[in-house]
Order: sequence, then structure tokens, then C-alpha cells
Amino acid sequence: MSRMAKLELDGKSYELPIVEGTEKELAIDISSLRAQTGYITLDDGYGNTGSCSSAITFIDGDKGVLRYRGIPIEEIAGKSSFVETAWLVIFGHLPTIEDRERFSGLLTESSRLDESMRKHFEGFPPNGHPMAILSAMINALSTHEPVVIDDDRDLEEAAARLMSKVRTIAAASYKASVGEPIVYPRYDMKYVENFLHMMFSVPYRDYEPTPEVSAALNLFLALHADHEQNCSTSTVRMVASSQANMFASCSAGVCALWGPLHGGANVAVIEMLEQIRESGMPVSEYVAKVKDKQSGIKLMGFGHRVYRNFDPRSKILRKAADDLLASMKIHDPLLDLAQELADVALSDDYFVERKLYPNVDFYSGTILRAIGIPLNMFTVMFAIGRMPGWIANWKEIHDDPKGRIYRPRQVYVGHTGEHWMPREERHYDEED
Ligand code: CMC
Repeated sequence: MSRMAKLELDGKSYELPIVEGTEKELAIDISSLRAQTGYITLDDGYGNTGSCSSAITFIDGDKGVLRYRGIPIEEIAGKSSFVETAWLVIFGHLPTIEDRERFSGLLTESSRLDESMRKHFEGFPPNGHPMAILSAMINALSTHEPVVIDDDRDLEEAAARLMSKVRTIAAASYKASVGEPIVYPRYDMKYVENFLHMMFSVPYRDYEPTPEVSAALNLFLALHADHEQNCSTSTVRMVASSQANMFASCSAGVCALWGPLHGGANVAVIEMLEQIRESGMPVSEYVAKVKDKQSGIKLMGFGHRVYRNFDPRSKILRKAADDLLASMKIHDPLLDLAQELADVALSDDYFVERKLYPNVDFYSGTILRAIGIPLNMFTVMFAIGRMPGWIANWKEIHDDPKGRIYRPRQVYVGHTGEHWMPREERHYDEED
């Protein structure tokens, strides 16, 4: 017998089922609330709303825990490549050797873009934002790709096509933006190495990444692979719930990821650090500005809706940044500055009381900078990494026989009792 929550409302008593997740997360199932009481719930920004049940990723924000399909992120980091992590996230368990080889083969075979797709790049202005190009090109992929998915084998092929072509599109959009010829993928290269080849090879010189660079990028992508119901993943699920295809749904995810409060924060962090360095402003002064609500400035790369503790990804990335820079014999003053900022913020009451800690975006930019990824491509890198999570969430919606279209309600607070007026009678006060 499941537990029930009691609700007293307008002198009547109602019972609502309590749902318990596999990690003992508790929720009140309000799906019958409106039918029973006539009320809806209001939760601006969805801070208290579970929009779905999902078996992909678990986060305990108070303890700083992140698990993909039950496996702690610390165990995955450095052991599973991005491709293996992607398979885990999408299909629910670590791939066997055969699964791994089949999926790698599919990724390799799918890496080329149809020639007509390549022509689209000519239509974008040279300084067009790579996130706009990525989203438009992923959507355009649905005009070329079969979008009917009946079973896991269809999905595996579609997932490989999307993940592989996204990497090719990202590199091609970069090449177009710097006026260099687009580089074709190589069939003898693995996922990450192939991406770096398409980004940095030129007709007269092949780019060969070091094992340290490949490992750091694999780690970066694997750590971004999924993060439960964030803004972009919820967007993907929202679009998917209308039975839109996987490419269209993931293209919408790219748009949601773009903003500086979400994936765009990895750009905003580097811009903030550069601004502090160039101005010569002491870190304590910058932190004081952040604390002054009138300034409208946030400490970018800090805070998270779910984590009220260290984001475990930021700890792993901090160490990875140190290791990569040491292996490349690079000293990046922005990493020192980031650490100084973190030290000051973490000992300041404002951040302590609000439980604001460094998030995934705080240190990731240092890794991307060291690899040579330009700043305007940082959020594209996040999108490449997040693709498996979006695909897995699309699959959950697609496979749910009881799935309904996502359709939140609202509390209307606009005008009431208005009537249409002829044009000559319309005179409004300034404040209207
Ligand atoms: N700097 C200064 N103050 C902050 C920050 C910050 N980075 N983040 C939150 N606060 C304050 C906020 O002003 C509020 O203060 P008060 O209680 O006095 O009104 C309090 O902390 C609670 O914050 P909130 O705005 O209610 O938190 P939220 O859950 O709505 O927002 C967030 C989460 C990530 C959007 C926010 O922390 C933020 O804007 N951080 C900076 C941007 C960033 O790094 N985004 C990346 C997030 S992680 C990766 C991803 O999602 O892509």
C-alpha cells in the first residue's frame, strides 16, 4: 500500500499518492489535483516540480553526487571514453566489446556530411554564431536522415548519425568562420581525435593531438554527457513529447543551452576572468561587486539550481586542467585567477549562506583554451558532450506508451472583461 499525502483545502480533505524513487527521492503525485480540487500548483522556474520519472541520471545536490545509470561520475571519469559514456547514457548499461565496436563503426561511417549539407555553410555569414549554425544544421539533418525509429537498433544508428555529424558540423562551422577549407573526417580516427583533426588540420599540415589532449577532451565531453532535467534537456523532452523527431528535438536543445545562465556560462566565465585581469581589479573588489545586488553582476561559473555543494564535475575538471597544462608546459594566468576567485568566494558569507559553489563551467574553459578551442566554440563543445543525454531523454519519451504531450498550465494575471474598440477610440495612458 503506497503512502498518501493529505491536503486540507476549503474545508475538504484530499489524498495524493507519495511516489518514491530508487534513490529514496520523495514526491507527491499531483496529477489528479486539478480534477479533484479545481486547483493547480504554481512553481515559477520549476524549482519544486518533477516533470517526469527518469532512469538516466541521478543527482544528490546536497551531497554533490552525480551518477549516470547508477555509476558514480568519479568512476566513469578517465576510465570510459566519451563514446563509451554515451552508449551507457543512451542504452542504460556499459557496452560490451561487441556493442562498443559496433557503435564506434557506426560513428565512423556516419561522420561525413551530405554534400548538399556542406553548401548550407556558404549561406551563413562568416561571423555567424556557431550555436546558431549548429542548431540550424541539426534541424536540417532531419531532411536527410530517416527519422522513424522502431527499435533499439534503429536508435543506435540514428544516435550514431547525430553524434557523429554534430561533431563534423561543429568543426566545419569553425572552419567556415575562420575562412579555412572544411576538412573531411578520417575513417582511421577515433571520435575525439577525428574532431580535433577536422578542427585543426589544414591542407598543408595534419594536426596530430597528443594522448593528453585527447584524454582531456574525452573527459570534458564525458562529464557533460547528461545532467537530468536541466533547461536544455527539459526543452528536448518538451519538443519530443509532441512526437517531433530526434533531430528536431535536439536542435531545440542547442538553442536552450546557448544562454549564459546555462551552457553559455563557460564563455561567460572566461570573459569575466579576462575582464578582471585586464582591468587589474583586485579579486576581492570584484567579489564585492557581485554581492552588491544593484550591480547586476553574477559570479559566472558559480551556483547551481540543484547542487548546494561542490559540483563533482568541477572538482574533476580542476584536476584535469592542472594535469593538461602541466603536460603541455603551459601556465594559464586565468586558471590562477579562477582559483583565487573561488578561494575568496568560498570563504565569504554571501556564498556560504546561499550554498554557491563552483559549477561545471568554472574550470572547463581552461581545458578548452589549452586545447586551442576558440571562445565562441565553447558552448558548442558543451552541446557535443550533452548530445547523448538529449538522445537518452528523447528515447525515454519516445518509448513511453503512456506518454502525453507536455503542456503546463498557468495562472492568468492579465486584463479581464476587455472589449474590442474601433481604432479612433483607442487612447492609452503612458503607462499602458
Ligand atoms: N553569483 C552571485 N549570486 C548568485 C549566483 C552567482 N553566480 N548564483 C546565485 N546567486 C544568488 C542569487 O542572486 C540569489 O540571491 P538572493 O537569495 O539574495 O536573491 C541566491 O543566490 C539564489 O540563487 P537563484 O538565482 O535563486 O538560483 P537559481 O537556482 O535560480 O539559479 C543559476 C541557478 C545557475 C542560474 C545561478 O546560480 C547563476 O546564474 N549562476 C551563474 C551562471 C552559471 O554559472 N550557470 C551555469 C550553471 S551549471 C551548468 C549549466 O546549467 O549549464
